[in-house]
Amino acid sequence: MTQIIRIDKIKPESEKLSTAAKILTNGGTVVFPTETVYGLGANALDEYAVKKIFTAKGRPADNPLIVHICDTAQIDKLASRVPESFFELAGKFWPGPLTMVMKKSSLVPDLVTAGLDTVGIRVPDHPAALELIKQAGVPVAAPSANVSGLPSPTKVEHVINDLDGKVDIIIDGGDCLVGLESTVLDITGDTPVILRPGGITPEQIEAVLGKVSVDRFVYERFKNLDSSPRSPGVKYRHYSPRAQVILVEGSLTEMAAEINRRSECFINNKKRVGIMATDQTMHMYAHGTVMSLGDRDRPETIAGNLFGLLRYFDRLGVDVILAESIDRTGIGIAVMNRMIRAAGYNIVGVGHAE
Ligand code: TXA
Ligand code: MG
Repeated sequence: MTQIIRIDKIKPESEKLSTAAKILTNGGTVVFPTETVYGLGANALDEYAVKKIFTAKGRPADNPLIVHICDTAQIDKLASRVPESFFELAGKFWPGPLTMVMKKSSLVPDLVTAGLDTVGIRVPDHPAALELIKQAGVPVAAPSANVSGLPSPTKVEHVINDLDGKVDIIIDGGDCLVGLESTVLDITGDTPVILRPGGITPEQIEAVLGKVSVDRFVYERFKNLDSSPRSPGVKYRHYSPRAQVILVEGSLTEMAAEINRRSECFINNKKRVGIMATDQTMHMYAHGTVMSLGDRDRPETIAGNLFGLLRYFDRLGVDVILAESIDRTGIGIAVMNRMIRAAGYNIVGVGHAE
């Protein structure tokens, strides 16, 4: 049985959170809201509890988990080497959607890091998450609270759909604000490397450190499945709805023309089509179920709606999702990374875009 409790997202009731905190302390699993997506948490220092996360999600054992803490001071226990850049970045972006990868301490179980000698750590920017971690008194290992392979949950309905009956308690804190996961940044070397783009943009990191690079698997398919990429998550199918996703890149008019051409073709073949458009292009489509991801001039709105819309189209039962691309600047790099992966790395370039 999974308990579901609703809390106030601005002023979470601490007595309600204490039930969930006790479950964590006793080795159980708790789904909690964060500013990025919902997380499926367990005591990071308890291997037996962490194992339950992998089972509930159906997650491959070689994909490491992010450890969530409520206070920067806890870093010394979890990381064995803390570079200077950590303090600069934590000072600027924590609490917030930035996960920093550092050499792990011996306290962190191998199960959490999937055998790697590094650990990813972040302080989430959400009052309920912070209060929960504080009350539990332990670091909390938590991947996104979805069944492995599906889009991450940004609404409690998504969590209930995926994990009801598989976890001890779900804390309903309403919708997640950012809607995409944290940026995973490896700070073990001289130049910090973005392993997964997310809520904190490359531009923001560069402004603090003066340099940052982006791992090539942010856009490229990882092909050699026997070797180890720096971020094991890139090996797996991800963010994939049941429908086939086709991502189109080009100017607005070229994209719309290509999507119209393809949707007409699919519809003639008795396929059901969903179109992921934007506020600026909604009116350009003649066929299919057309939904806007948000405003191109405020790409954070697009980030916020992406996972929800992928899941919405699955609920409608569409066979194909035709999606527009957006600019790969700012949060756009994270949006495009998720879209490219949802599309299985197939991008249709039209006009002069690519
Ligand atoms: O926003 C988020 O990061 C959410 C919330 C719940 O905090 N969590 C999340 O966790 O997205 P998950 O497990 O779905 O994704 C974690 C990603 C994976 O791609 C994993 O491979 C990578 O971070 N990762 C974790 N630890 C790592 C490490 N030590 N080295 C390299 N990559 C790591
Ligand atoms: Mg995930």
